[in-house]
Amino acid sequence: MEVLKMLILNHGISYELMDKVERCTKDHYRKCMEQKFTEFASKTLEEGTKIDANDLDWESTFFLRHLPVSNLYEIPDLNDDYRNTMKEFATELEKLAELLLDLLCENLGLEKGYLKKAFCGAKGPTFGTKVSNYPPCPHPELFKGLRAHTDAGGLILLFQDDRVSGLQLLKDGQWVDVPPMRHSIVINIGDQLEVITNGKYKSVVHRVVSQTDGNRMSIASFYNPGSDAVIFPAPTLIEKEEVEQSEVYPKFVFEDYMKLYIRQKFQEKEPRFVAMKAMETITLPAPIATS
Ligand SMILES: [Fe+2]
Repeated sequence: MEVLKMLILNHGISYELMDKVERCTKDHYRKCMEQKFTEFASKTLEEGTKIDANDLDWESTFFLRHLPVSNLYEIPDLNDDYRNTMKEFATELEKLAELLLDLLCENLGLEKGYLKKAFCGAKGPTFGTKVSNYPPCPHPELFKGLRAHTDAGGLILLFQDDRVSGLQLLKDGQWVDVPPMRHSIVINIGDQLEVITNGKYKSVVHRVVSQTDGNRMSIASFYNPGSDAVIFPAPTLIEKEEVEQSEVYPKFVFEDYMKLYIRQKFQEKEPRFVAMKAMETITLPAPIATS
């Protein structure tokens, strides 16, 4: 079993492009998002103890979808320069994600392209970007930037702020900082890769701790299965290791997993796997004709 969260610098994406993504994202936050967040923050702080801090994240976000069909030109408030920059960045990240999936295949002894194929539903994989800002919070002891969770999908590529920290991952029961490093991409594994590798790669529990100083930028891109992709442990991994039936991860359609995840994102992943196992279709033998 390997817990994978790594930080890579030799990813092949130009630093110039990354600098532009950062500049555009920070400009966009100031022009289009900050006012709304300030209102949310003052309302939250005013209501104080009446608010359930376990049900709230101190973050400002919006989502972009690239695959199967882009919604980049439907998002309001983005100027053409920002749109084109994010489109170029997404194309580079998609290539990087597919390269990394093949490296995982190599490590696992799976044929090249296996994981990419496993993510392909009828329309190919889903690929999207969550653009977040974590503005300073006067009460980090009350409000998390983002509560602890594992990501639902496949491979996550994160371009995070190079100055303001806050991201932590859980390793051996301890929270460990993922330090900011200029021009790096942090790679994270989601629940679907844990299922396909039958637990050889585990998804990682992580969170964002609010900071009292500085606004933390976080651009997380998710290379996930298509919604109709059928997810199941790679048979060769089960056979090779002679895994007991009770140790085999479930088989399900990705969108069914997501329906559960949306309600249980901030809970532990194991009950989700158990629930999906319980939903597996039981194949009954065909009835025998009696007359
Ligand atoms: Fe996450």
